Amino acid sequence: MADVYKAVKLTDRVYWVGAIDWTIRDFHGYTTHRGSTYNAYLIMADKITLVDTVKAPFKEELLSRIASVVNPKDIQVIVSNHSEMDHSGCLADMIKLVEPEKVVASTMGAKTLQDILHLDQEIIAVKDGEQLSLGNMNLRFMETRMLHWPDSMFSYLPEEEILFSHDAFGMHLASAERFDDEIDPAILQYEGATYFANILLPYSPLVTRLLGRVGSSGMTLKYIAPDHGPVWRKDIGGIIGKYGEWAVQRPTRKAVVVYGTMWHSTEHMARAISEGLANGGAIARCMSLDVFHRSDVAYEILDAGALVMGSSTLNNNMLPQAADVLTYLKGLRPVNLMGASFGSYGWSGEAPGQITDILKEMKIEVTAEPIKVQHVPRENDLARCYALGEDIALQLRRNKEVA
Ligand code: FEO
Repeated sequence: MADVYKAVKLTDRVYWVGAIDWTIRDFHGYTTHRGSTYNAYLIMADKITLVDTVKAPFKEELLSRIASVVNPKDIQVIVSNHSEMDHSGCLADMIKLVEPEKVVASTMGAKTLQDILHLDQEIIAVKDGEQLSLGNMNLRFMETRMLHWPDSMFSYLPEEEILFSHDAFGMHLASAERFDDEIDPAILQYEGATYFANILLPYSPLVTRLLGRVGSSGMTLKYIAPDHGPVWRKDIGGIIGKYGEWAVQRPTRKAVVVYGTMWHSTEHMARAISEGLANGGAIARCMSLDVFHRSDVAYEILDAGALVMGSSTLNNNMLPQAADVLTYLKGLRPVNLMGASFGSYGWSGEAPGQITDILKEMKIEVTAEPIKVQHVPRENDLARCYALGEDIALQLRRNKEVA
């Protein structure tokens, strides 16, 4: 392979050797508008160490970047912080090529890697708090179970003050720039929050606990090196602070109106609700599922105080796109939301009730009866929708938790 792919230096002894995926737009259901990176890191210790690998199709890019620093066969240790295939996809090939002295992972990682890759090589399980000598440097491990897989683990390199944080603090963002200070902060904020909402939201209480552990661990951080997106070297405090904020999901005055529509009747209702919300002092986000993806909705929900969900009724059910987004949001387990439902129908009208049932299953506080309109809404129907928006806005203003 042409040696166009070079390593990027973090410090004199640590390099980024990952891959840039400019074209990926779907990451198991999460739409990645800006592509992604699969980050791997090379530690030029006495025992040369590779932290994570990349997705299988990018193996040559990984090898080329490593080869710009050292012969890949000189790698003696491979650390797997996370077994998911975007990071372990070419681990089996790397083990065959490199024949490392050791491959290490967390206890769950050692099992999961075998379940995924069916390796001949033994994976050495390291425990929470354990330290591995690389000769002139050391790696300390911190288990981060269920963030976001059972195997997930941080590795900390005290000599360079680098935390290799697997998916945590990452984002799906393909860029030629490798560091946070080289990228527009608004993009970092948006993509970081989108990543949190779509990947880490269900585990928010664990994130809060983990931030406490990191804070009390005595680790000093010059770099946070995640497995996706830029390496943090400037605004480390900022991203840690944001994780603390996102994990709490403190609701704002934002209400997200999400809907699927057949002949625009449910859309008219959504627009009337949004007008009522805005005029009542809420921040309304009106999202048609014809143009917004489920992961856009997840992003908006992260700091919302209300989810108002609508669907036309099709063959006695809500529309497939409404069922899709509700299934996705249910899995993400958002908290601190109130909710309501609405929709137009021809002759049976089950969808709004079905939506309300799911909102309740999600432990969302439903404060109003579903609004149902037969066929095309009349003035008084739109007035009811507007009043619903105003009422939710009022409740959001009253909510003591609202920022
Ligand atoms: Fe980037 Fe959970 O894999």
